[in-house]
Amino acid sequence: MLSRNMTKNVHFFIESHLSQWGKENLIAMDGTLGNGYDLEFLNNQKAISTIYGFDIQAQALENSKTRIGETEKCIYYIQDSHHHLECYIEGEIDLALFNLGYLPGADKSIVTRVDTTLEAIEKTIGKLSNGGMMVVMTYPGHEEGSKEHEAVKDYLSGLHKKNLSILQLNVNNVIKPCPNCFLIINQLYKI
Ligand SMILES: C[S@@+](CC[C@H](N)C(=O)[O-])C[C@H]1O[C@@H](n2cnc3c(N)ncnc32)[C@H](O)[C@@H]1O
Repeated sequence: MLSRNMTKNVHFFIESHLSQWGKENLIAMDGTLGNGYDLEFLNNQKAISTIYGFDIQAQALENSKTRIGETEKCIYYIQDSHHHLECYIEGEIDLALFNLGYLPGADKSIVTRVDTTLEAIEKTIGKLSNGGMMVVMTYPGHEEGSKEHEAVKDYLSGLHKKNLSILQLNVNNVIKPCPNCFLIINQLYKI
């Protein structure tokens, strides 16, 4: 069900996309591991078999590993920036999730940055399989996050490609700037 909680909405959209798609053995990417909550969600999706998880902070990899523990899925924990994804992922990506910003409870100056974020988004879209989906969550409520949100919005709204459906979701009836979610689906549609 949809709610005011953007992470719940994101997980809801991903689950409904995966169940309608019906494809199995999916390759997923978590572009920002953080504390591993999104990874845990991906790990719980039956259709996913492999997950490439990125974060620049060792602490995030440790937190994520601890959260997941033993699993039957193949999870790669990669301490590198997501804009280097092609060094680790050879083939296509079925599902990518980028939850931007800083690691809650850690140094807030270590935060996703416009240039590397845009490069990673461009590269990930270029690797999306037919029917694949990318989700980007932005946080306009802090200075770097606001710049990043505007840059992501401008970049995505300029992508006039017939195979891409790009949707933006935010919660309208709140006063503070709230997280935004961009859904990018690689599926040919007729205009
Ligand atoms: C909002 S947190 C992610 C939340 C996480 N998905 C979760 O479920 O807990 C953002 C993370 O992005 C990481 N990060 C910042 N710049 C990055 C980059 N260039 N590549 C990969 N991760 C990055 C930060 O270290 C931080 O852990």
